[in-house]
Amino acid sequence: MKIVLGVTGGIAAYKAALLLRLFTEEGHDVTVVPTDNALRFVGAPTWEALSGKPIQTDVWSNITDVPHVRIGQEADLVVVAPATADLLARAATGLANDLLTNVLLTARCPIVLAPAMHTEMWDHPATVANVATLRARGVTVVEPDSGRLTGKGTGPGRLPEPERIHDEALAAAHAGASSGAGASNAAGPLAGRRVIVTSGGTREPLDPVRFLGNRSSGKQGHAIADVAARRGAQVTLLSANSAEPVPAGVTCIRVGSALELQEAVTSRAHEADVIVMAAAVADFRPKHYVDAKIKKTHDPADPDAAPTVELVRNPDILAGLVADRGHAPSPIIVGFAAETGDANKSVLEHGREKLARKGCDVLVVNEVGVDTTFGQDENTVHVLQRDSDDEIVAGPANKHVIAGVVWDVVGTLLPKA
Ligand code: CTP
Repeated sequence: MKIVLGVTGGIAAYKAALLLRLFTEEGHDVTVVPTDNALRFVGAPTWEALSGKPIQTDVWSNITDVPHVRIGQEADLVVVAPATADLLARAATGLANDLLTNVLLTARCPIVLAPAMHTEMWDHPATVANVATLRARGVTVVEPDSGRLTGKGTGPGRLPEPERIHDEALAAAHAGASSGAGASNAAGPLAGRRVIVTSGGTREPLDPVRFLGNRSSGKQGHAIADVAARRGAQVTLLSANSAEPVPAGVTCIRVGSALELQEAVTSRAHEADVIVMAAAVADFRPKHYVDAKIKKTHDPADPDAAPTVELVRNPDILAGLVADRGHAPSPIIVGFAAETGDANKSVLEHGREKLARKGCDVLVVNEVGVDTTFGQDENTVHVLQRDSDDEIVAGPANKHVIAGVVWDVVGTLLPKA
């Protein structure tokens, strides 16, 4: 991928050198475009040595090469880290008074800005308005971290660690995020569609401090929601116990148990065009919830005494949604299946059987092992459809890429808008 790394004049410019290394070590072709002030913090030799290319900050060198147009036009991804309050203001108003702002105006690829500044500057209504303008256009503005700032201050405004910027930038690139130059998500392929995505893993309470849970991180479900929003959908994310950040532009409702998730999704199903059940729903819950913490007994005659927890079945939410829909064409219902093959059947045979049993339109089958899928950034899936024998294999790939494939398939099933 051709990446432009913009660097502006903040003390966190040194972290951009690490970000540059992360990109180049993955084989990306990175052009660094610093501002003049960035070079007060980290000098040209550092950027030139790490990127292997000469740098320039203004539009007056190499004129015959038309760098102020070419660099932006050729880029697959533009990342600015750190982005100062000044850069955000110039980007929001469309100024083009140095090479970097020219690149921002000529790029038609995803643009990701990672701001860093003092909390007062970040909270100032001018900066808040500039960030809102950029986000409304589809530019990805990464939330700054909270913590120690230069001088005595602490608070929001810290540049996130290079790994987080790297991950968010690649997620934006894979999701086909907007440059903010007209191809905004209002014109995306899912514009006007209402989507519900369930994500994470349910927790079935046993007493006030204990629950039965599972290992789902919510990464894949959140990526599904993120990509839908970037493609223009109005997305409600029902997130069960996930620590993943809520994607920009997505309405997130937190749920805990399978019964809470069932109520949250079924009460909204009638207003959805698509429901994606990416959550790992517990099949069983403790039969009785105990109001006070279950204590150990201290009977010397039976020192190993332990309670027996009786379980009951949870409803199958996905099957319930399919039954409620009946023969109506909407909503399109997508299930996920975590499968391991066994002595009798392969992962795919289990998947086909589950698709038939659950009656959903699309089933995304993950092959799971102890260290695969859960909590990882990459995933391999087989996408099966009820009315087709086609089997689309996606991955191993970033969960945003997988999400893109799922939405490509769902897009073919949606009635014309
Ligand atoms: N699911 C659900 N309600 C449940 C269990 C699962 O809605 N009580 C949904 C999940 O969100 C997922 C799909 O069903 O989209 C498949 O989940 P999985 O756990 O693989 O399927 P199970 O029906 O539980 O099958 P298994 O017998 O393999 O456990």
